Amino acid sequence: MSPQINFLVLFIILGASFSSCFSSYQEGPLTIDHLDDTHGSDPRRAYTTSISNNTDHQQDQDRDKHEPGFVDRIMMSAAKRFGMKRRLRRAQTPSTSQRLVSVDQFGAKGDGRDDTEAFRKAWQAACSSANSVLVVPKYRNYHLKAITFSGPCKSDMTLMVYGTIKASSHRSDYAKDTRHWLVFENIQNFVVEGGGSINGNGRKWWLNSCKINKNLPCTHAPTAVTFLGCNNLRVSNLRIKNAQQMHVTFQNCDNVKALNLLVTAPGNSPNTDGIHVTGTQNINIENCVIRTGDDCISIVSGSKNVRATDITCGPGHGISIGSLGADGSTDYVSNVIVDRARLSGTTNGVRIKTWQGGSGYAKNILFQNIEMNNVSNPIIIDQNYCDQDTPCREQGSAVQISTVTYRNIQGTSASEDAVKFQCSKSMPCEGISLQNVDLVRAGDADVQASCDNVGLANKGKVFPRC
Ligand SMILES: *[C@@H]1O[C@H](CO)[C@@H](O)[C@H](O)[C@H]1NC(C)=O
Ligand SMILES: *[C@@H]1O[C@H](CO)[C@@H](O)[C@H](O)[C@H]1NC(C)=O
Repeated sequence: MSPQINFLVLFIILGASFSSCFSSYQEGPLTIDHLDDTHGSDPRRAYTTSISNNTDHQQDQDRDKHEPGFVDRIMMSAAKRFGMKRRLRRAQTPSTSQRLVSVDQFGAKGDGRDDTEAFRKAWQAACSSANSVLVVPKYRNYHLKAITFSGPCKSDMTLMVYGTIKASSHRSDYAKDTRHWLVFENIQNFVVEGGGSINGNGRKWWLNSCKINKNLPCTHAPTAVTFLGCNNLRVSNLRIKNAQQMHVTFQNCDNVKALNLLVTAPGNSPNTDGIHVTGTQNINIENCVIRTGDDCISIVSGSKNVRATDITCGPGHGISIGSLGADGSTDYVSNVIVDRARLSGTTNGVRIKTWQGGSGYAKNILFQNIEMNNVSNPIIIDQNYCDQDTPCREQGSAVQISTVTYRNIQGTSASEDAVKFQCSKSMPCEGISLQNVDLVRAGDADVQASCDNVGLANKGKVFPRC
């Protein structure tokens, strides 16, 4: 080849690869929507407010149809914000060095029959070979019984959920362990994403809850998705709904990102916490919308370096640290930041709750840039927490609460007590700081602050004050 032709060939190759890069960049939904859009209330995104005995799943499907692209939208807005588009693209478009394993290759049908065995085999195959991507295909609805996906895997693992994974509603399918439905344990460098759905199909469990039917004994229901002992974990771009009890738990994990999750269940579904963090360190929860029947995010013992940013909650019970100190336990939570949250119609805003009789601490906690919209207890520390039928007796020991800052918190309270600090008599709260807090009553009644045993400093405008 003559040098000119060589040069021409090179030029054509460069041009082609440039334009293909460019068009793949263009076709991604990267240019869509600003984060604030996801905070707007979309009247179409209605949730059911009563637990019906209706086993008709049409409702779920209708709701899905009404939310096309929602998860994509929040994913991409966060991607822009956090400069993650490279990484997200890479995970979405597996490179040739990754080995794709589809659950369908192992006999999963996604047609309403039980697919548990196929998923088990597909996981084994994927986990035991290098750089696997396990794929749950789109447009199918895979039914699973309780199942544990265990590591360690041969190398980094990715699970792409494009379609729907739905829980068996037969409670006998959880006979071995009524606490868990999907468990991912001891998997390092693990990514779960794909834009699909995980549906806990929890209605039967809710109807059998002692909180709904007072005649029944109180029992546990499964957490829909549990990550146990997973280090370097990213869970993003998924919708998780109608959990049997809690939706997603991170337990004894280190270095976690939970991003762009849409978590929904009816406001009166019992104990359906959105995201539960226990014994987990270095976790960022970002850009999530959580509308459930219990805590939006709950952070309990052994958790530290927890950051929740750009969170939308409601209905539900708000963002909670605790409960801590139940049954005399020694619990520790520290270094928690909740930044940029909007709570609407929740029974609490930002809450720290501890039982009497416990020990340990909750310290170094910052709640900032939070908007409250008709929230019953926007700011609350409750050291007399008692979630049981019989009254709790007064006890001397308590979990120590210290260094808690509330900064830039505005909005409306649905109750008179917009600020409530009920700290322990024997172990008062220390270093509590309110800075630029302005809460008014939804409607025209007054609000107040009710404060016991609290060492408090106010800065800037603070209303109401102790
Ligand atoms: C739910 O429906 C089933 C079957 O139609 C019926 O037997 C049961 O009594 C109903 N339960 C409630 C709580 O309405
Ligand atoms: C505010 O919340 C209360 C219950 O907490 C509810 O009864 C009321 O309708 C809500 N108000 C608005 C304006 O949403």
